Amino acid sequence: MNAKIKNLISSEHLSLDEINSILVKALFFKEKDKAVTSNYFYKNLENKLIALAFFEPSTRTKLSFDIASKRIGATVIDFSPFNSSQSKGETTLETIKTIEAMGVNIFVIRHQNSLEPKLIQDNINGIVINAGDGTNEHPSQGLLDLFTLNEKFNNNLNGLKLCLIGDIKHSRVAHSNIILLRKYGVEIYGLAPDNLYDKINNPNNINILDNIDEAINKCDVLMFLRIQKERMNENEFPSIQDYKKQYSFTLNDFDKKSNIYVMHPGPVNYGVELDNSVLQHKNCLIQRQVKNGVYIRMSILSNLDL
Ligand code: CP
Repeated sequence: MNAKIKNLISSEHLSLDEINSILVKALFFKEKDKAVTSNYFYKNLENKLIALAFFEPSTRTKLSFDIASKRIGATVIDFSPFNSSQSKGETTLETIKTIEAMGVNIFVIRHQNSLEPKLIQDNINGIVINAGDGTNEHPSQGLLDLFTLNEKFNNNLNGLKLCLIGDIKHSRVAHSNIILLRKYGVEIYGLAPDNLYDKINNPNNINILDNIDEAINKCDVLMFLRIQKERMNENEFPSIQDYKKQYSFTLNDFDKKSNIYVMHPGPVNYGVELDNSVLQHKNCLIQRQVKNGVYIRMSILSNLDL
């Protein structure tokens, strides 16, 4: 069964059938890619126009949606707000409606304001894919992380222990992962400085850990999160030296447990969350996450109910 989706605003609203359909088709695209070695085209979005409307910077999400769109036959419109009529006072919604009037069918939107993609979806006829909204959600990243974990753990995530480490408070990636991974039985842990997660109220109801060694001992996967200085007040972040001592991971830390895996959605602040030598270890999944991002986004687009 292939369950189609009407849009992709939040991970919360995805049913297990919809998620499984996306995972299965992403695997199909990945297998096809291996088989033919050259770029493989599956043109079920031919004659569709997809606008990439990124109001915040991006490398991974934007380029992988771009590649994914082209590989399934769509035509991509790369809208850049930074030299658009927004500088003359046009709002985001007015801008998107203007692009829709030109015949664009699908909008991949990243925005600094939480819930902006939802607001846009409620006010246009076209399809909206949330490519990251403020501190709220980043559902396509959550899906590619789920896909990557399924690959590593043979599609059996029930009881897997994953620790989110770092800036949980501002991380839309963490929020989407918590929602999606819990649907598959993953137990979520968290390790963060006091001002980067409210441990007293524990809004995400995660298992709080105290230090990196405890995270390594207790968990199977460590998902490091970027310190998002652009979303913080001046005094919100401890000193880099203090942070590194308590929360950073180096190549030597892999020796503490042979089967520990490391993930990070990127971009990484190397030398802060992770030492850059970590990338060379076989249990570091960062490059695999990036690669899988193309297949997941091909699958999301080809599973749209057009
Ligand atoms: N993971 C992620 O969203 O990266 P970009 O900001 O480069 O898209």
